[in-house]
Amino acid sequence: MRALTLEAVRKVYGRGGGAVTALDGVSVALAKGSFTAVMGPSGSGKSTFLHCAAGLDRPTDGRVLLGDTDLAGLGETALTQLRRGRIGFIFQAYNLLPALDVAQNITLPLRLAGSRVDHTWLREVAQRVGIADRLHHRPAELSGGQQQRVAIARALVTRPEVVLADEPTGALDSRTGRQVLELLRELVDTLGQTVLMVTHDPVAASYAHRVLFLADGRLAGALEQPTPDAVAERMTHLGEW
Ligand SMILES: Nc1ncnc2c1ncn2[C@@H]1O[C@H](COP(=O)(O)OP(=O)(O)OP(=O)(O)O)[C@@H](O)[C@H]1O
Ligand SMILES: [Mg+2]
Repeated sequence: MRALTLEAVRKVYGRGGGAVTALDGVSVALAKGSFTAVMGPSGSGKSTFLHCAAGLDRPTDGRVLLGDTDLAGLGETALTQLRRGRIGFIFQAYNLLPALDVAQNITLPLRLAGSRVDHTWLREVAQRVGIADRLHHRPAELSGGQQQRVAIARALVTRPEVVLADEPTGALDSRTGRQVLELLRELVDTLGQTVLMVTHDPVAASYAHRVLFLADGRLAGALEQPTPDAVAERMTHLGEW
């Protein structure tokens, strides 16, 4: 049961002498209900990996499948629909709309997709992320950790097949960051949500089931049941610190 599959994905930016190979034959399969972290030195291809997985960037070679859907077979409109309905996104900078209240921010992906808002599910998602008592507040009235909880609820509201997170704790202090990571792990363990997270932080990576290491656009190993120390140790060998 695979949620997301990358098969020999290569991504080359530019042409000729200035061409940069950002990904060089990366194959990864994410099982449903798995929590995977991606780490690697700056420039190793982490963002490119996430963008290819999300259908935001098209691979030069290789295939990306969401469930059984080959993204290469989709035009731009279908790809946009797939991103809205079947993928959830969490960003470092939350990206909430300041003029909308919490409930409106959470349900925005549904309204963009023209779907009905299921208020029971909205309540449940808000409760799970611990923001149910703030549904009619504006983002500016919330702490950073609360804003990221809203962003997580927004990522879950369409019941996506996979949640992609880019440095989700990068803007939070370490205690608030840990709470957000505990929440992500809990969503994996209790809802069977599939999560893929890019991070620079070995502690953040240790919340995942598995860490994938990238170096120079290639997979440079994986760690199951990672501890922060084991992750930091690997990163040292990849030349990060
Ligand atoms: N749009 C682009 N055009 C040209 N080169 C690009 C583009 N995007 C990324 N690259 C190059 O591809 C390589 C991988 O970049 P990527 O952004 O995926 O790295 P990263 O691992 O996310 O780094 P960081 O940790 O600094 O965010 C880098 O050499 C980068 O300069
Ligand atoms: Mg990046």
